[in-house]
Amino acid sequence: MTLKRQRVSELLKETPGKEVLAKGWVRTKRGNKNIAFIALNDGSTINNIQIVCDFSNFTPDETFKDITTGSAIAVTGKLVESVGSGQKVEIQAEKIELYGTADPEKYPLQKKGHSMEFLREIAHLRPRTNTFGAVLRIRHAMAFAIHKYFNDRGFYYLHTPIITASDAEGAGAMFQVTTLNIDNPPRREDGKVDFSQDFFGRHTNLTVSGQLEGELGAMALGNIYTFGPTFRAENSNTPRHLAEFWMIEPEMAFVEIDENMDVAEDFIKYLVRYALDNCMDDLIFLNNMIDKGLIERLKSVVSTDFVRMTYTEAIDILVKSGAKFEYPVSWGVDLQSEHERYLVEQHFGKPVILTDYPKDIKAFYMKQNDDGKTVRGMDVLFPKIGEIIGGSQREESYDKLMARINELHMDMTNLWWYLDTRRFGSAPHSGFGLGFERLLLFVTGMSNIRDVIPFPRTPKSAEF
Ligand code: 4AD
Ligand code: MG
Repeated sequence: MTLKRQRVSELLKETPGKEVLAKGWVRTKRGNKNIAFIALNDGSTINNIQIVCDFSNFTPDETFKDITTGSAIAVTGKLVESVGSGQKVEIQAEKIELYGTADPEKYPLQKKGHSMEFLREIAHLRPRTNTFGAVLRIRHAMAFAIHKYFNDRGFYYLHTPIITASDAEGAGAMFQVTTLNIDNPPRREDGKVDFSQDFFGRHTNLTVSGQLEGELGAMALGNIYTFGPTFRAENSNTPRHLAEFWMIEPEMAFVEIDENMDVAEDFIKYLVRYALDNCMDDLIFLNNMIDKGLIERLKSVVSTDFVRMTYTEAIDILVKSGAKFEYPVSWGVDLQSEHERYLVEQHFGKPVILTDYPKDIKAFYMKQNDDGKTVRGMDVLFPKIGEIIGGSQREESYDKLMARINELHMDMTNLWWYLDTRRFGSAPHSGFGLGFERLLLFVTGMSNIRDVIPFPRTPKSAEF
């Protein structure tokens, strides 16, 4: 009977006694002429399974010496109780097949303890490290939990387009999509590029947000969410910005700002709790190796009520704090992450949701307050991160929305379909966007956003 391969995560939970087959990559191999120990990892868990090669009853073939850190092997043997491996069980090797070697002179992960910067230069191999294995497993768990959260609550997953002709955030930092010959594009009589000859017959770009299309979905299905890649060509070389990042954007019809905040708080607590309940092995590793306060911080977030206050109240606190900021604060400024972190980490010691921002620093679609100065936006601010969620109640009045659009001199020719939501069956609605990698920064304790996505895209960097 041929043995079925089992993942290491399963094997470590098995009762000893039976014949098993494991396949994976060698983390370490050590020993002497009587006995050798191989730590084997197959990506299913942070934990390795120990392979014991006792040469009194295991005869190695000539390839055995080529089994070194990084090589891929298949091991058949008996699962036995372990005393020294740190696990309950280990495998007493009977047969080892070498699939692929990893020349110790050349394999970049031969040694442990590389810097995060170096690992970014070998992004094609870094998933094989303990740290990135842990991060990528948690990333998967969070993606799964996001779909589960919304599915269990009657939200529909809406696939919004990646190529669009609109600019949802008005940020103006977009990657263009074109099939025109950029060396010699066709030109109109006025000298401008003639996009009518482009693939889509118009000027297009990669989306910065699925929100505007998400609103169309909410105005038909009630509650929807998007979860996809978004692209921003801002030249922000910070530990919190990517040019390509993933965003989760729920949008809810008949929901106003208070309920929007309730959902945001409940959602993010659910995700953190899910990580605590399902990713403990990886969290313990990250807590030990990356950030000693991680697990405590995660537990504290799920068990505390987030502070809710207006932007105006927050500015008041910041001004009165007497703290020295690189960017001075006064009413009307866009909060920097130093300000957000001061509120969260120094002043309150817990997450904060700010609302009612000055309209001039927020997007055109936010619902206008009666004071004529502020809009019903909300940002959720987190320890170590700053802004993790941005959202708002949307302006549902066609006239008010048009007035704002005209005030901003926006070109709405490509957004006539968006305006139709306000012409036909308009209703109060709200939503928000959670930056997936910012969530992962929080949940993993990693300090640079480049290290929570497999293949980061940042200014001057898109190699892998
Ligand atoms: O605040 P933002 O720009 O909001 C929107 O895009 C809205 N359309 C969301 C909505 O209401 N449906 O972005 C939302 C979140 C931010 O709070 C942040 O977590 C993340 O997306 N984010 C980024 N993450 C990584 N790199 C970047 N360059 C990011 N820009 C925003
Ligand atoms: Mg924002």
